[in-house]
Amino acid sequence: MTREIIIAPSILAADFARLGEEVTAIDTAGADWIHCDVMDGHFVPNISFGADVIKSIRPLTKKTFDVHLMIAPVDPYLDAFAKAGADVITVHAEAGAHLDRSLQAIRALGKKAGVSLCPATPESAIEYVLDRLDLVLVMTVNPGFGGQSFLESQLEKIARLRSMIGERPIRLEVDGGVTRDNAAAVAAAGADTLVAGSAVFRGKSNADYADNIAAIRVAAESGRVPRESSVQPGRAGERVRAR
Ligand code: DX5
Ligand code: ZN
Repeated sequence: MTREIIIAPSILAADFARLGEEVTAIDTAGADWIHCDVMDGHFVPNISFGADVIKSIRPLTKKTFDVHLMIAPVDPYLDAFAKAGADVITVHAEAGAHLDRSLQAIRALGKKAGVSLCPATPESAIEYVLDRLDLVLVMTVNPGFGGQSFLESQLEKIARLRSMIGERPIRLEVDGGVTRDNAAAVAAAGADTLVAGSAVFRGKSNADYADNIAAIRVAAESGRVPRESSVQPGRAGERVRAR
């Protein structure tokens, strides 16, 4: 089943002095989800914001809050992020020894459960928790900072995960260095959910945000491989692309 492309701007790249306005701006500019990068200065070498900031921006938009927890330990904080208004809570496979338990805890809180893989972590790390997942997040940078360069090495991992996921109802998200220039390759590899921070907030005006989101979406759509099974009857021998 081919899922519609989701564009999830990361508010890590927003102007924190005007965070509320920035959230409203990307909502209006066409963001499907709002990606919230939580960093603790321990799991990653940077500190961003916590549950209280998410709680404060929650009333500003009805869009999905896609909360990426780059923290360790993670279990003690799941309840706070759920209460703050997270809709999807993604934990790192590398953040602790008990990933299966963390994913169960997220679903027990009534939220969608995601796992994120650092660039060095193979897709096999999630082989035994696939049925606990609503989302897999492939890091295409080493987590901790926005504005880094996309790691091409991860395209093969994205394709392998697409194959692992099969027909399961799991979104495949990519995060780090995603731009309008590589979005087609990211989607062609099998991703359906694209995080972008600096590539969305580039330009700083609301009109720029809309243009940036639209450009990433158009590029991603252009990279999608037509489904074989949806070939429509056409002239003999003609291969008709999926609608
Ligand atoms: C990095 C974060 C990413 C990052 C994306 O640790 O998880 O979401 O903010 O920012 P860009 O798109 O600028 O790489
Ligand atoms: Zn992120």
